[in-house]
Amino acid sequence: MTTERLLVSDAPVGRAMDGLGLIQYVGPLARVIVSEATETPFTVGIFGPWGSGKSSLLRMIAETLEADYPERTIRVDFNPWVYRNEPNMLLPLLHTLQDTLSDDRSQRFSQTVRRLGSVISTLTANIVLGKVSGGSVKLDDIKNAAEEYSKARGLVESEMRRLRSTLQAEADRLAESGVRLVILIDDLDRCEPDEIVDLLESMKLFFDLRNIFVVMAIAKDVVDRGVAVRYRDFGFTTEKVIEIGNEYLDKMIQLPLYLSTFNAPTIGAFIAGLNLPPDLAPHIELLQKIVYPNPRHIKRVVNLAIFTHAVARDAPGRQVPRLDLLLRLIVLRIQSPALYRASVARPDLLADLEAVYQDRLRPDDTDGFTRRHGTELAELAQEGVHQFYGLEPYFEDIFSESSFGEVTGELVDYITMLGG
Ligand SMILES: Nc1ncnc2c1ncn2[C@@H]1O[C@H](COP(=O)(O)OP(=O)(O)OP(=O)(O)O)[C@@H](O)[C@H]1O
Ligand SMILES: [Mg+2]
Repeated sequence: MTTERLLVSDAPVGRAMDGLGLIQYVGPLARVIVSEATETPFTVGIFGPWGSGKSSLLRMIAETLEADYPERTIRVDFNPWVYRNEPNMLLPLLHTLQDTLSDDRSQRFSQTVRRLGSVISTLTANIVLGKVSGGSVKLDDIKNAAEEYSKARGLVESEMRRLRSTLQAEADRLAESGVRLVILIDDLDRCEPDEIVDLLESMKLFFDLRNIFVVMAIAKDVVDRGVAVRYRDFGFTTEKVIEIGNEYLDKMIQLPLYLSTFNAPTIGAFIAGLNLPPDLAPHIELLQKIVYPNPRHIKRVVNLAIFTHAVARDAPGRQVPRLDLLLRLIVLRIQSPALYRASVARPDLLADLEAVYQDRLRPDDTDGFTRRHGTELAELAQEGVHQFYGLEPYFEDIFSESSFGEVTGELVDYITMLGG
Protein backbone atom coordinates (compact mmCIF):
# COMPACT_ATOMS: atom_id res chain seq x y z
CA MET A 1 0.00 0.00 0.00
CA THR A 2 1.39 3.44 -0.85
CA THR A 3 1.82 6.17 1.73
CA GLU A 4 -0.39 8.53 -0.27
CA ARG A 5 -3.33 6.20 0.12
CA LEU A 6 -2.79 5.99 3.83
CA LEU A 7 -2.89 9.71 4.47
CA VAL A 8 -6.14 11.13 5.77
CA SER A 9 -8.15 13.64 3.74
CA ASP A 10 -9.24 17.01 5.11
CA ALA A 11 -12.63 17.06 3.39
CA PRO A 12 -15.71 17.54 5.58
CA VAL A 13 -17.31 14.19 6.35
CA GLY A 14 -20.91 12.98 6.21
CA ARG A 15 -22.87 10.64 8.47
CA ALA A 16 -21.15 7.47 7.32
CA MET A 17 -17.72 8.76 8.36
CA ASP A 18 -18.64 10.51 11.61
CA GLY A 19 -15.82 9.81 14.05
CA LEU A 20 -16.76 12.42 16.66
CA GLY A 21 -20.33 11.56 17.51
CA LEU A 22 -21.67 14.70 15.81
CA ILE A 23 -24.54 12.56 14.61
CA GLN A 24 -26.11 12.84 18.06
CA TYR A 25 -27.12 16.44 17.28
CA VAL A 26 -28.47 15.69 13.85
CA GLY A 27 -31.64 13.65 14.51
CA PRO A 28 -33.03 16.03 17.18
CA LEU A 29 -32.14 19.04 15.06
CA ALA A 30 -33.89 17.64 11.99
CA ARG A 31 -36.96 16.92 14.11
CA VAL A 32 -36.97 20.50 15.42
CA ILE A 33 -36.78 21.71 11.84
CA VAL A 34 -39.76 19.73 10.59
CA SER A 35 -41.88 19.99 13.72
CA GLU A 36 -45.02 22.09 13.34
CA ALA A 37 -44.59 23.03 16.97
CA THR A 38 -41.35 24.88 16.28
CA GLU A 39 -41.96 28.57 15.95
CA THR A 40 -40.25 30.30 13.10
CA PRO A 41 -38.15 32.27 12.23
CA PHE A 42 -35.59 29.98 13.75
CA THR A 43 -31.85 30.24 13.28
CA VAL A 44 -29.37 27.66 14.49
CA GLY A 45 -25.76 28.74 14.90
CA ILE A 46 -23.05 26.10 14.69
CA PHE A 47 -20.13 27.72 16.45
CA GLY A 48 -16.65 26.33 16.48
CA PRO A 49 -13.08 27.34 15.76
CA TRP A 50 -11.09 26.56 12.62
CA GLY A 51 -11.37 22.88 11.65
CA SER A 52 -13.68 21.87 14.49
CA GLY A 53 -16.25 20.09 12.29
CA LYS A 54 -18.79 22.78 11.39
CA SER A 55 -19.04 21.91 7.68
CA SER A 56 -19.19 18.21 8.55
CA LEU A 57 -22.14 18.79 10.87
CA LEU A 58 -23.89 20.85 8.19
CA ARG A 59 -23.33 18.04 5.73
CA MET A 60 -24.83 15.50 8.13
CA ILE A 61 -27.87 17.72 8.65
CA ALA A 62 -28.28 18.01 4.88
CA GLU A 63 -28.02 14.24 4.44
CA THR A 64 -30.58 13.61 7.16
CA LEU A 65 -33.11 16.07 5.78
CA GLU A 66 -32.69 14.51 2.37
CA ALA A 67 -32.98 10.93 3.61
CA ASP A 68 -35.68 11.29 6.26
CA TYR A 69 -37.77 14.32 5.26
CA PRO A 70 -37.52 14.75 1.49
CA GLU A 71 -41.18 15.77 1.17
CA ARG A 72 -41.24 18.12 4.13
CA THR A 73 -38.20 20.26 3.52
CA ILE A 74 -36.56 22.09 0.72
CA ARG A 75 -32.93 22.74 1.39
CA VAL A 76 -30.91 25.65 0.09
CA ASP A 77 -27.14 25.32 0.44
CA PHE A 78 -25.60 28.74 0.43
CA ASN A 79 -21.92 29.61 0.52
CA PRO A 80 -21.48 33.40 0.79
CA TRP A 81 -17.75 33.14 0.28
CA VAL A 82 -18.30 32.11 -3.33
CA TYR A 83 -20.12 35.40 -3.90
CA ARG A 84 -17.93 37.61 -1.75
CA ASN A 85 -17.34 40.09 -4.58
CA GLU A 86 -21.02 40.72 -5.18
CA PRO A 87 -22.20 44.19 -4.13
CA ASN A 88 -25.24 42.78 -2.34
CA MET A 89 -25.44 39.30 -0.88
CA LEU A 90 -29.23 39.18 -1.19
CA LEU A 91 -29.09 38.61 -4.92
CA PRO A 92 -26.93 35.48 -4.89
CA LEU A 93 -28.99 34.17 -1.99
CA LEU A 94 -32.21 34.73 -3.92
CA HIS A 95 -30.69 33.19 -7.03
CA THR A 96 -29.58 30.14 -5.08
CA LEU A 97 -33.07 29.82 -3.61
CA GLN A 98 -34.62 30.14 -7.05
CA ASP A 99 -32.22 27.57 -8.56
CA THR A 100 -32.90 25.11 -5.75
CA LEU A 101 -36.64 25.44 -6.12
CA SER A 102 -36.53 25.05 -9.88
CA ASP A 103 -34.31 21.96 -9.57
CA ASP A 104 -36.99 20.20 -7.55
CA ARG A 105 -37.50 16.81 -9.16
CA SER A 106 -41.27 16.86 -8.96
CA GLN A 107 -41.51 20.53 -9.96
CA ARG A 108 -43.53 21.39 -6.88
CA PHE A 109 -42.50 25.03 -6.76
CA SER A 110 -42.83 26.40 -10.27
CA GLN A 111 -45.19 29.23 -9.22
CA THR A 112 -42.82 30.35 -6.49
CA VAL A 113 -39.91 30.22 -8.90
CA ARG A 114 -41.76 32.52 -11.27
CA ARG A 115 -42.68 35.04 -8.59
CA LEU A 116 -39.15 35.02 -7.21
CA GLY A 117 -37.86 35.69 -10.70
CA SER A 118 -39.86 38.90 -10.83
CA VAL A 119 -38.58 40.06 -7.41
CA ILE A 120 -35.04 39.31 -8.48
CA SER A 121 -35.27 41.37 -11.64
CA THR A 122 -36.71 44.40 -9.80
CA LEU A 123 -34.07 44.10 -7.11
CA THR A 124 -31.30 43.75 -9.68
CA ALA A 125 -32.50 46.87 -11.48
CA ASN A 126 -32.59 48.84 -8.24
CA ILE A 127 -29.15 47.71 -7.24
CA VAL A 128 -27.83 48.71 -10.62
CA LEU A 129 -29.49 52.13 -10.17
CA GLY A 130 -27.87 52.40 -6.76
CA LYS A 131 -31.19 52.53 -4.92
CA VAL A 132 -30.45 49.49 -2.80
CA SER A 133 -27.02 49.38 -1.33
CA GLY A 134 -27.18 46.21 0.71
CA GLY A 135 -26.70 45.39 4.31
CA SER A 136 -24.57 48.31 5.33
CA VAL A 137 -27.57 50.62 5.43
CA LYS A 138 -28.64 50.12 9.02
CA LEU A 139 -25.20 50.32 10.57
CA ASP A 140 -24.15 53.29 8.51
CA ASP A 141 -26.94 55.40 9.86
CA ILE A 142 -25.02 55.60 13.14
CA LYS A 143 -22.78 58.08 11.40
CA ASN A 144 -24.92 59.48 8.65
CA ALA A 145 -28.05 61.50 9.20
CA ALA A 146 -28.01 63.84 6.24
CA GLU A 147 -31.31 64.57 4.55
CA GLU A 148 -30.11 63.12 1.28
CA TYR A 149 -29.31 59.94 3.02
CA SER A 150 -32.69 59.71 4.73
CA LYS A 151 -34.33 59.99 1.35
CA ALA A 152 -32.22 57.21 -0.06
CA ARG A 153 -32.88 55.15 3.03
CA GLY A 154 -36.61 55.61 2.58
CA LEU A 155 -36.31 54.13 -0.88
CA VAL A 156 -34.20 51.26 0.32
CA GLU A 157 -36.59 50.52 3.13
CA SER A 158 -39.63 50.45 0.93
CA GLU A 159 -37.77 48.22 -1.53
CA MET A 160 -36.77 45.91 1.30
CA ARG A 161 -40.32 45.85 2.66
CA ARG A 162 -41.59 44.79 -0.73
CA LEU A 163 -38.97 42.08 -1.03
CA ARG A 164 -39.69 40.94 2.46
CA SER A 165 -43.42 40.64 1.96
CA THR A 166 -42.94 38.72 -1.29
CA LEU A 167 -40.55 36.31 0.36
CA GLN A 168 -42.84 35.94 3.34
CA ALA A 169 -45.79 35.14 1.11
CA GLU A 170 -43.75 32.49 -0.70
CA ALA A 171 -42.45 30.92 2.51
CA ASP A 172 -46.03 30.81 3.85
CA ARG A 173 -47.27 29.21 0.65
CA LEU A 174 -44.59 26.54 0.89
CA ALA A 175 -45.50 25.94 4.53
CA GLU A 176 -49.17 25.55 3.64
CA SER A 177 -48.19 22.78 1.26
CA GLY A 178 -46.30 21.14 4.12
CA VAL A 179 -42.78 22.17 3.07
CA ARG A 180 -40.30 24.08 5.17
CA LEU A 181 -37.54 26.13 3.68
CA VAL A 182 -34.19 25.32 5.26
CA ILE A 183 -31.19 27.46 4.41
CA LEU A 184 -27.77 26.05 5.28
CA ILE A 185 -25.04 28.69 5.29
CA ASP A 186 -21.39 27.71 5.43
CA ASP A 187 -18.00 29.38 5.17
CA LEU A 188 -19.29 32.80 6.12
CA ASP A 189 -16.17 33.16 8.21
CA ARG A 190 -13.91 32.75 5.21
CA CYS A 191 -14.95 36.23 4.13
CA GLU A 192 -12.86 39.21 5.14
CA PRO A 193 -13.64 40.64 8.60
CA ASP A 194 -14.73 43.94 7.08
CA GLU A 195 -17.31 42.13 4.94
CA ILE A 196 -18.78 39.89 7.61
CA VAL A 197 -21.15 42.35 9.24
CA ASP A 198 -22.47 43.53 5.88
CA LEU A 199 -23.00 39.94 4.85
CA LEU A 200 -24.90 39.09 7.99
CA GLU A 201 -26.93 42.27 7.67
CA SER A 202 -27.94 41.54 4.12
CA MET A 203 -28.96 38.00 4.99
CA LYS A 204 -30.82 39.02 8.11
CA LEU A 205 -33.85 39.68 6.01
CA PHE A 206 -34.16 35.95 5.55
CA PHE A 207 -33.62 35.19 9.19
CA ASP A 208 -36.66 37.23 10.18
CA LEU A 209 -39.24 35.36 8.15
CA ARG A 210 -41.87 32.92 9.32
CA ASN A 211 -41.52 29.36 8.05
CA ILE A 212 -37.87 29.77 7.26
CA PHE A 213 -35.17 27.87 9.03
CA VAL A 214 -31.55 28.91 8.85
CA VAL A 215 -28.59 26.85 10.02
CA MET A 216 -25.41 28.86 9.93
CA ALA A 217 -21.89 27.62 10.64
CA ILE A 218 -19.55 30.28 11.92
CA ALA A 219 -16.38 30.87 13.92
CA LYS A 220 -17.33 33.41 16.55
CA ASP A 221 -13.95 35.12 16.63
CA VAL A 222 -14.34 36.02 12.96
CA VAL A 223 -17.58 37.82 13.73
CA ASP A 224 -15.80 39.60 16.58
CA ARG A 225 -13.08 40.71 14.19
CA GLY A 226 -15.76 41.95 11.80
CA VAL A 227 -17.43 43.90 14.61
CA ALA A 228 -14.04 45.30 15.64
CA VAL A 229 -13.37 46.50 12.11
CA ARG A 230 -16.83 47.97 11.82
CA TYR A 231 -16.51 49.92 15.09
CA ARG A 232 -12.81 50.68 14.89
CA ASP A 233 -13.38 54.46 15.05
CA PHE A 234 -15.08 54.06 18.42
CA GLY A 235 -11.96 52.73 20.13
CA PHE A 236 -13.74 49.90 21.97
CA THR A 237 -11.77 47.47 24.12
CA THR A 238 -11.46 43.82 23.07
CA GLU A 239 -13.97 42.82 25.79
CA LYS A 240 -16.45 45.36 24.51
CA VAL A 241 -16.03 44.10 20.95
CA ILE A 242 -16.68 40.52 22.09
CA GLU A 243 -19.75 41.70 23.98
CA ILE A 244 -21.08 43.54 20.93
CA GLY A 245 -20.33 40.43 18.82
CA ASN A 246 -22.27 38.29 21.31
CA GLU A 247 -25.24 40.63 21.37
CA TYR A 248 -25.20 40.85 17.63
CA LEU A 249 -25.35 37.08 17.19
CA ASP A 250 -27.70 36.51 20.15
CA LYS A 251 -30.36 38.54 18.41
CA MET A 252 -30.00 36.45 15.31
CA ILE A 253 -29.62 32.96 16.71
CA GLN A 254 -32.15 30.99 18.71
CA LEU A 255 -30.17 27.79 19.15
CA PRO A 256 -26.39 27.94 19.49
CA LEU A 257 -24.43 24.68 19.18
CA TYR A 258 -20.80 24.77 20.23
CA LEU A 259 -18.23 22.42 18.70
CA SER A 260 -15.27 23.75 20.60
CA THR A 261 -14.80 20.97 23.12
CA PHE A 262 -14.42 17.26 22.52
CA ASN A 263 -13.67 15.12 25.55
CA ALA A 264 -10.68 12.79 25.82
CA PRO A 265 -12.51 9.50 25.05
CA THR A 266 -14.09 11.07 21.96
CA ILE A 267 -10.70 12.26 20.76
CA GLY A 268 -9.17 8.84 21.48
CA ALA A 269 -11.89 7.10 19.44
CA PHE A 270 -11.45 9.67 16.67
CA ILE A 271 -7.70 8.99 16.46
CA ALA A 272 -8.31 5.24 16.56
CA GLY A 273 -10.70 5.64 13.62
CA LEU A 274 -8.00 7.26 11.48
CA ASN A 275 -6.41 3.88 10.74
CA LEU A 276 -2.88 4.52 11.87
CA PRO A 277 -0.28 1.98 10.71
CA PRO A 278 -0.25 -0.99 13.13
CA ASP A 279 2.98 -0.02 14.88
CA LEU A 280 1.76 3.53 15.57
CA ALA A 281 -1.56 2.26 16.94
CA PRO A 282 -0.18 1.36 20.42
CA HIS A 283 0.64 5.05 20.92
CA ILE A 284 -2.90 6.35 20.50
CA GLU A 285 -3.30 6.94 24.22
CA LEU A 286 -0.17 9.10 24.28
CA LEU A 287 -1.29 11.01 21.21
CA GLN A 288 -4.70 11.61 22.71
CA LYS A 289 -3.07 13.20 25.75
CA ILE A 290 -0.64 15.50 23.95
CA VAL A 291 -2.47 16.66 20.86
CA TYR A 292 -4.81 19.69 20.84
CA PRO A 293 -8.35 18.30 20.61
CA ASN A 294 -9.26 19.76 17.24
CA PRO A 295 -10.14 17.35 14.41
CA ARG A 296 -8.33 19.17 11.60
CA HIS A 297 -5.27 19.68 13.75
CA ILE A 298 -5.26 15.99 14.74
CA LYS A 299 -5.45 14.95 11.10
CA ARG A 300 -2.41 17.10 10.29
CA VAL A 301 -0.45 15.55 13.14
CA VAL A 302 -1.50 12.04 12.10
CA ASN A 303 -0.59 12.68 8.46
CA LEU A 304 2.85 13.89 9.44
CA ALA A 305 3.21 10.84 11.70
CA ILE A 306 2.22 8.41 8.93
CA PHE A 307 4.48 10.11 6.45
CA THR A 308 7.50 10.34 8.75
CA HIS A 309 6.99 6.75 9.79
CA ALA A 310 7.13 5.72 6.11
CA VAL A 311 10.25 7.84 5.54
CA ALA A 312 11.92 6.25 8.57
CA ARG A 313 11.00 2.73 7.49
CA ASP A 314 12.20 3.15 3.91
CA ALA A 315 15.54 4.84 4.69
CA PRO A 316 18.27 2.27 4.02
CA GLY A 317 20.56 1.53 6.94
CA ARG A 318 18.68 3.75 9.37
CA GLN A 319 17.57 2.32 12.68
CA VAL A 320 13.82 2.12 13.17
CA PRO A 321 13.06 5.12 15.41
CA ARG A 322 11.34 5.03 18.77
CA LEU A 323 7.84 5.81 17.64
CA ASP A 324 6.66 7.32 20.90
CA LEU A 325 9.50 9.87 20.72
CA LEU A 326 8.84 10.52 17.07
CA LEU A 327 5.19 11.28 17.86
CA ARG A 328 6.19 13.63 20.67
CA LEU A 329 8.52 15.48 18.31
CA ILE A 330 5.85 15.75 15.64
CA VAL A 331 3.39 17.21 18.12
CA LEU A 332 6.00 19.67 19.39
CA ARG A 333 6.83 20.68 15.87
CA ILE A 334 3.22 21.52 15.07
CA GLN A 335 2.02 22.80 18.43
CA SER A 336 5.13 24.49 19.85
CA PRO A 337 7.36 25.51 16.95
CA ALA A 338 9.58 27.70 19.19
CA LEU A 339 10.53 24.77 21.42
CA TYR A 340 10.98 22.56 18.38
CA ARG A 341 13.34 25.09 16.77
CA ALA A 342 15.31 25.43 20.00
CA SER A 343 15.62 21.63 20.15
CA VAL A 344 16.86 21.44 16.57
CA ALA A 345 19.59 23.89 17.54
CA ARG A 346 20.38 22.04 20.76
CA PRO A 347 18.82 18.56 21.12
CA ASP A 348 19.98 18.33 24.77
CA LEU A 349 17.19 20.71 25.66
CA LEU A 350 14.64 17.91 25.35
CA ALA A 351 16.57 15.67 27.72
CA ASP A 352 16.89 18.56 30.19
CA LEU A 353 13.18 19.36 30.12
CA GLU A 354 12.39 15.70 30.57
CA ALA A 355 14.71 15.52 33.59
CA VAL A 356 12.94 18.52 35.11
CA TYR A 357 9.43 17.16 34.43
CA GLN A 358 10.50 13.80 35.88
CA ASP A 359 11.85 15.47 39.04
CA ARG A 360 15.43 14.45 38.38
CA LEU A 361 16.60 18.05 37.96
CA ARG A 362 15.34 21.31 39.46
CA PRO A 363 15.16 24.32 37.10
CA ASP A 364 17.11 26.45 39.64
CA ASP A 365 19.74 23.80 40.39
CA THR A 366 22.77 25.41 38.71
CA ASP A 367 25.11 22.65 39.93
CA GLY A 368 22.82 20.05 38.44
CA PHE A 369 23.11 21.73 35.02
CA THR A 370 26.89 21.97 35.42
CA ARG A 371 27.09 18.25 36.20
CA ARG A 372 25.08 17.48 33.09
CA HIS A 373 26.75 19.84 30.65
CA GLY A 374 30.03 21.13 32.10
CA THR A 375 30.71 24.70 33.17
CA GLU A 376 30.71 26.21 29.72
CA LEU A 377 27.31 24.99 28.55
CA ALA A 378 25.46 24.90 31.90
CA GLU A 379 24.14 28.47 31.74
CA LEU A 380 22.81 28.07 28.20
CA ALA A 381 21.10 24.79 29.13
CA GLN A 382 19.51 26.28 32.23
CA GLU A 383 18.25 29.28 30.26
CA GLY A 384 16.64 26.92 27.74
CA VAL A 385 14.78 25.12 30.48
CA HIS A 386 13.63 28.41 32.04
CA GLN A 387 12.32 29.53 28.70
CA PHE A 388 10.07 26.51 28.15
CA TYR A 389 9.36 24.77 31.46
CA GLY A 390 5.66 25.17 32.37
CA LEU A 391 4.89 27.15 29.22
CA GLU A 392 2.18 24.77 28.01
CA PRO A 393 0.13 22.40 30.16
CA TYR A 394 0.57 19.57 27.65
CA PHE A 395 4.37 19.58 28.15
CA GLU A 396 3.71 17.62 31.34
CA ASP A 397 2.24 14.79 29.24
CA ILE A 398 4.98 15.05 26.63
CA PHE A 399 7.85 14.75 29.08
CA SER A 400 6.60 12.91 32.18
CA GLU A 401 7.28 9.50 30.62
CA SER A 402 9.55 10.31 27.70
CA SER A 403 13.11 9.09 27.28
CA PHE A 404 14.78 11.65 25.03
CA GLY A 405 17.85 11.34 27.27
CA GLU A 406 18.42 7.80 26.00
CA VAL A 407 18.64 8.86 22.36
CA THR A 408 20.24 12.30 22.52
CA GLY A 409 22.94 11.19 20.08
CA GLU A 410 20.36 10.09 17.54
CA LEU A 411 18.00 13.04 17.87
CA VAL A 412 19.55 14.68 14.84
CA ASP A 413 18.38 11.66 12.83
CA TYR A 414 14.85 12.05 14.18
CA ILE A 415 14.83 15.70 13.29
CA THR A 416 16.08 14.96 9.78
CA MET A 417 13.22 12.50 9.31
CA LEU A 418 10.84 15.32 10.14
CA GLY A 419 12.42 17.54 7.56
CA GLY A 420 14.63 19.57 9.93
N1 LIG B 1 -17.45 14.09 12.83
C1 LIG B 1 -16.30 13.96 12.21
N2 LIG B 1 -15.77 12.75 11.98
C2 LIG B 1 -14.58 12.60 11.36
N3 LIG B 1 -13.85 13.63 10.92
C3 LIG B 1 -14.32 14.85 11.11
C4 LIG B 1 -15.56 15.09 11.76
N4 LIG B 1 -15.76 16.43 11.83
C5 LIG B 1 -14.72 16.98 11.24
N5 LIG B 1 -13.85 16.06 10.81
C6 LIG B 1 -12.60 16.31 10.08
O1 LIG B 1 -11.99 17.48 10.64
C7 LIG B 1 -11.55 18.36 9.61
C8 LIG B 1 -12.28 19.68 9.71
O2 LIG B 1 -13.67 19.44 9.51
P1 LIG B 1 -14.65 20.53 8.88
O3 LIG B 1 -14.15 20.98 7.56
O4 LIG B 1 -16.01 19.95 8.96
O5 LIG B 1 -14.46 21.68 9.97
P2 LIG B 1 -14.87 23.21 9.88
O6 LIG B 1 -15.14 23.63 11.28
O7 LIG B 1 -15.96 23.39 8.90
O8 LIG B 1 -13.54 23.87 9.32
P3 LIG B 1 -13.35 25.37 8.77
O9 LIG B 1 -13.03 26.18 9.99
O10 LIG B 1 -12.19 25.29 7.83
O11 LIG B 1 -14.61 25.75 8.08
C9 LIG B 1 -11.80 17.61 8.30
O12 LIG B 1 -10.64 16.91 7.99
C10 LIG B 1 -12.91 16.64 8.64
O13 LIG B 1 -12.87 15.49 7.84
MG1 LIG C 1 -16.03 24.62 7.22
